[in-house]
This record gives sequence, C-alpha cells and structure tokens, in this order.
Amino acid sequence: MNPYPKSSQILENNRRYIPGGVVSTNRAANPEIVFVKGEGAYLWDAEGNRYIDYHAAFAPHFLGHNDPHVTEAVRRVLADGASLYGSGTTVLEGRLAELVCRHVPAIEAVQFLNTGSEASYQAIRLARAITGRDHIIVMQGGYNGWHNDVSCNLMTPLEQLGPRVSPGEYPYKPISAGVPLDHQRLVHPINFNDLASVEYVCQKYPVAALITEPILQNIGIVKPEAGYLEGLRKLADRFGFLLVFDEVKTGFRHGLAGYAGIAGVKPDLAVYGKAVANGYPIALLGGKKEWMDWTIHPEASKRVLIAGTYNAHPVPTAAAIATIERLLMNSGEVYRHVEALGTAMQNGLEALVTKLGIKAVVARQGSAFCLYFMDHCPSDWHDLASNHQFAIDEQMRRELIARQIYCFPLATKQCSISTAHTREDIETTLQHIAVVLEKVSAQ
Ligand SMILES: Cc1ncc(COP(=O)(O)O)c(C=O)c1O
Repeated sequence: MNPYPKSSQILENNRRYIPGGVVSTNRAANPEIVFVKGEGAYLWDAEGNRYIDYHAAFAPHFLGHNDPHVTEAVRRVLADGASLYGSGTTVLEGRLAELVCRHVPAIEAVQFLNTGSEASYQAIRLARAITGRDHIIVMQGGYNGWHNDVSCNLMTPLEQLGPRVSPGEYPYKPISAGVPLDHQRLVHPINFNDLASVEYVCQKYPVAALITEPILQNIGIVKPEAGYLEGLRKLADRFGFLLVFDEVKTGFRHGLAGYAGIAGVKPDLAVYGKAVANGYPIALLGGKKEWMDWTIHPEASKRVLIAGTYNAHPVPTAAAIATIERLLMNSGEVYRHVEALGTAMQNGLEALVTKLGIKAVVARQGSAFCLYFMDHCPSDWHDLASNHQFAIDEQMRRELIARQIYCFPLATKQCSISTAHTREDIETTLQHIAVVLEKVSAQ
C-alpha cells in the first residue's frame, strides 16, 4: 500500500505541467514525498507525518527552517516598503557587504548574486579575464553548479572514468546534455587531494583557475589532507592561476570565515551561497579587492560584467544580514551547539557500527556528516566509488525515511544538523539508526 497517497496525488497533478513534476531535477527523490511545512529541525509531509530533517534542502538551513530571527527581518523589510528598485545602490546591500567583508578574511570586496551557480560562473569568468587564459581545473566528485564549465564529473561511474589517474586528468563527463565540445576541452577534472595532477595540468595548458570545494560535500564529507589546500595556494602562485574556493556548502556552516578560515588558506576568490541567508536565495562572490575591481576596470575591454535583475533583492539581503547577526550572537554560540551535537552523532554512530561489527566510518565537519560503508574515510571520488557500499547506504536512507528521519535518499549525500536540532533529536535519530543498521547488517 502507498504510504504517501496525498503526496502522490500532488506529484501526479504537477507532472501534467512540469516535466517530471519537480522544478529542480536534482530534487527528484524516491520515495516521492511532498513536504508542506518546515519549522526548526522538522519537516511535515502532505500526510501530516513529522520528520527530523537532516537534508536541510541540500544544506542552506543551518539555523533550521524558518528561523524566527530571519523571518522577522524579512517581515520587517516588507513592512518598511522596501522594493527592488533596480537603479543605483541600496543601504541594505551596503550593510550586507560591510558585514561580509568584516567577518570573512578572504573577502576584501564582494558582489551579490542569486545562486551558487551564478557565483561560480562569475568567478571563472573573472579568472579568465584577469589571467587572459581559458582552461580551468575542477575536481572529480566536486559540484560547483549547473553551467557548462562545471556541470561534469560528479558521481561518475568508474566504468566511464577508467582506472585511477595520477598525475593526470580524467575525461570530461558532462552531467547534462548540451555542453558544447569546444567548451569541454577547456575543463580538466582531476582527483581531490592530488597536487601532482594540478602540476601536470598546469604544465600542459594555460590554466585560468582551479575551482574546488575545500571539503567535497556533494559526495559526503571528503576532507582535504594535511597540506593540500596550502599546496594549492603555492601552485596557484607558481603557475599564475586563480585559486577559487567554492564555499557554497562550507561557507557559514563551518564558520563565517568558511573553511578557508579554518584551514588558514586564502583563496583568490570565494563563492558562498546556501547558508548565507538560511534558505533565502542569495549568493556572493568575493575575494581580493585587486581581482574584484576588474568588474569596474577602467578599460572597457577588460571589464567583467556583473549583472542581474534580482541581485541583492531586499528580501534575501535582509535575510542574509539577519543570518549573520544570528551567527554572531553570544560569540558564536551556535557553532559550539552544533559541534556538540555533531560530536554526539559521530560518537553514537561509531559505537553502533563497532557493536554491530559493520565496516563503516563517520566523516564529519561540525554539523555536516556522512556514514561511509568502507574501512576508511575517502580521500577522493575514485577511492570512494571503489570502496563504498552504495546499496547499503541507500537502503539505510530509505529505512530511515520510513521511520521519519529524513536524509536525502541518494547514497553519500551529506547529512546536515542545524542549530535548531536538540540533544533529544540526535538521541531519537540514533535509536532509529540502531534498528536500521541491525536490520542491514543481518542481511
Ligand atoms: C558546492 C556547491 N557549489 C555550487 C552549487 C550551486 O548552487 P546553486 O544550486 O545555488 O546554483 C552547489 C549546489 O548544491 C554546491 O553544493
């Protein structure tokens, strides 16, 4: 019997007008549950079931759904009569820019866009303009958005990828049809944590930029090894390419200064999205002033166009200001809270897999974690794809959803704790995971 009849009805109706019934193809999920409400750490579906949410809409809701402080700021800005004027600057965008530049050491100057994809697109365009080069390096297993330069080589099946290559590059494997072949030859996917491959590509091609998430968080939590990010910085300086950190998932979630702040490595450019406004659509591109000033370069032929009807729309801008204010309250208390919850989750999971004799490890950074069914934390996609038991991972997620613990039902997707989660939520979750893992390990 279908446990989600109301969801099925909504989806069936939407399929008449929207191909597949869903507006972002990445959101198509099985089981096909339609959510109708989100508050704090919880989601409610159309049937009225309440879930503890670890999906967080692919990670923006670091403060939980509909955080009262952020919601109040949005209400206020609308009540004040703010609108999208579309001419000249605004007080709000100046306030947000000042906050960002004051609290993110890697960002001396900033521009606002609507989505992470727009921000990564503009970062690459800026790097090409500044260096006068066209080639870029991306990470196999990284995700930086939907546009032609980066919509490739995410969870590429090993049959398509071939054996591990190092030093060297992987073939460009688009995750979308319609990427021109001429474009594909400019993009060089390599292993994460592999400095030798960066050097290899730089010796063969004029590289404008290397773009990477400082932690690969679209295939779980794949962390940089000691010295890797520092090594990227040195290679960028040696070969003259721009180092671009994609902090769309790491930014604000692991600290206002992003993972760059934790690692102590300064990129040339950084892009943030998602948690910037706790679920409202805004992204930012920032970095060294010298580079950002190319958007107002005195020579028209060198000037990089930054444009967008909705850039710094007052609603997400007010939401972003309120989010930063909230993150700064009580000297960053929210970060201590999620670290404690993350530690409890990690300890609980590790105790469970040890007790049940399951080959699994927990990878975690603060509030973001992933359980890998392999004997070590992966260092890159090839390692992960060669060793992780994907079927068990997916089964665990489906069983948890049936128990109203919502992790996205796709293997290796990051689980996100929010500041709205409580100790009790973590305990309840661990109790359900215990039952599910016992079932999985008995098979
Ligand atoms: C690391 C990273 N960069 C960029 C993007 C693209 O952001 P958006 O979906 O807002 O365009 C995403 C989205 O998941 C992401 O995870």
